[in-house]
Amino acid sequence: MKHVNCGTYREMSRQAAGCVAELLREKPEALLCFAAGTTPMGLFEELIQMQARAEVDMTRAWFAGLDEWVGLGPADAGSCIQVMFDSFYTPAGIPRDHIHVFDGMAADMTRECRVMEKWIADHGGIELTVLGIGMNGHIGFNEPGVPETRGCVVVDLDEVTKAISVKYFGKQIPVHQGVSIGMDLLSSAPEVILLADGVKKAPIVAATLSGPVTCRVPSSLLQKHPRAVLLTDADAAGLLPNLD
Ligand code: GLP
Repeated sequence: MKHVNCGTYREMSRQAAGCVAELLREKPEALLCFAAGTTPMGLFEELIQMQARAEVDMTRAWFAGLDEWVGLGPADAGSCIQVMFDSFYTPAGIPRDHIHVFDGMAADMTRECRVMEKWIADHGGIELTVLGIGMNGHIGFNEPGVPETRGCVVVDLDEVTKAISVKYFGKQIPVHQGVSIGMDLLSSAPEVILLADGVKKAPIVAATLSGPVTCRVPSSLLQKHPRAVLLTDADAAGLLPNLD
């Protein structure tokens, strides 16, 4: 996995947006998968501005939602579906039928997984994914200890994830499971971009890049990916052995 210290959050977001735009110029109908969470908000703003300036056209691309809290839906502020539609899909003008997301309120989560897997396969596989890194190294809801399962997964949430969920919901709400595109499907994307910013992410960035490859730190599994790139700001790069 390559690392680029972009210096600032703005520059990190710009570089990620540049990669997305470059791919879409070549493959306008590519299937993309973007994480929700706080980290990619700057990327979304950059992409929306670039589209307004006609520097990128995202309306022909396809979008698979990375993950969702089981039990939550669009009416729940902080759910992945709410965050992604309000921060990205809607302002970016992505046609609704170009988006497939997990229904966190579905009665049958296993079926949700199979439906997502089929939708991804029917759209040629994920071409580029932009991922955040959880404080515990989770990718989507691939929590520490989750094996490199095939396809999509329903996972019991780690205690760290439950505690951190407060930042999305503004209060502690009972969340126990997540549904996520699994590590193997994400790793099969030809292009993988990981984003991390802020001093709080410095320890997990160091573990992701220079720690052992282990399912205890799911983000470290991407060390094996031939084209994965980790973009950070200077703070998140602060604990790396050799600053570049
Ligand atoms: C969340 C989500 C991930 C996200 C990660 C990092 O819980 N399940 O999809 O990428 O954790 O989130 P953040 O960017 O807010 O730090």
